Amino acid sequence: MSNVQRITQLQLTRRPRRNRQSAAIRNMVQETRLAVTDFILPLFVLEGEGVRSEVVSMPGIHRYSLDLLLEEVAECVGLGLTTFALFPNLPESKKDKYATESYNPDGLYLRAVKAIKDRFPDVVVMTDVAMDPYSSDGHDGIVENGKILNDPTLEVLGNMALAQAKAGADIVGPSDMMDGRVGYIRQVLDAGGFHDVAIMAYSAKYASAFYGPFRDALDSAPRFGDKKTYQMNPANSREALIEAELDYAEGADFLMVKPALAYLDVIKLLKDNFDLPIAAYNVSGEYAMIKAAARNGWLDGERAMMESLMAIKRAGANVILTYFAKEAAQLLKSV
Ligand code: PBG
Repeated sequence: MSNVQRITQLQLTRRPRRNRQSAAIRNMVQETRLAVTDFILPLFVLEGEGVRSEVVSMPGIHRYSLDLLLEEVAECVGLGLTTFALFPNLPESKKDKYATESYNPDGLYLRAVKAIKDRFPDVVVMTDVAMDPYSSDGHDGIVENGKILNDPTLEVLGNMALAQAKAGADIVGPSDMMDGRVGYIRQVLDAGGFHDVAIMAYSAKYASAFYGPFRDALDSAPRFGDKKTYQMNPANSREALIEAELDYAEGADFLMVKPALAYLDVIKLLKDNFDLPIAAYNVSGEYAMIKAAARNGWLDGERAMMESLMAIKRAGANVILTYFAKEAAQLLKSV
């Protein structure tokens, strides 16, 4: 008896391939589905008029002056995107040690938040609460003698979050990793009457190499040292539970893991332990890697994009911040 005959005599009662034999069946048994409503698109705003400048390390992603930003939002809304995370690129002259420009109501960022909400009242605007885009030190906290001060930074973050709420932000996103910031911001917002402004906590934010292109986009790289005294050590996952527990107790409305792809286990961990919506930030470096490989013809960029986004959702994130949001929305619309 040949090997082939011997195998066909096997009585296999369980044949997983039966559920993969046609597109219709595969679709029927599919466990995870991406929808345009899963995505938050990060957007970069810069000063000027009629300016659209591509981020070299993020092909296809641009910094827009406010006029063109509004056009971009309109286009994205047409594709079904509803939520945008806004970040500012500021000239060096607007930066200082205390990030004071971050709560200037006439400054670029807050004007942009207001303009988006005025023109698109149904759009959800998520703002970034962190000092680094406005800091002459390029850090997320006040720097003194080479140290990042925690408690004095909270005051700046509170001012910033309140100013953003006044400008119309729906969700504020503290991305700074100072201890106690979620509770502090919640208090400040509530005292200001902004009970309805939500907090998406960057709970497990790691000191990652994958933020490089974002720092190019904002010219926000730390001027000295690194962010390891406040962002988490990539070696740790149990510590993510401590961060998430604190953010939960302090009133966070969403818990976020960042980056996403190298931290799928952490996404799953938070998903299994908390009943809040779990967000994941598919960061700039994760975007850049796929774009670079696709440009070289080394992999199919579209498929790699959709597979990555699917993996993030499968791991447990029901909200995905991603630079792919527009492209993925286009693709989802076309099928
Ligand atoms: C900083 C901030 C960073 C990102 C979002 N907010 C970078 C950093 O911590 O240095 C990175 C986002 C990305 O890489 O796409 N507050």
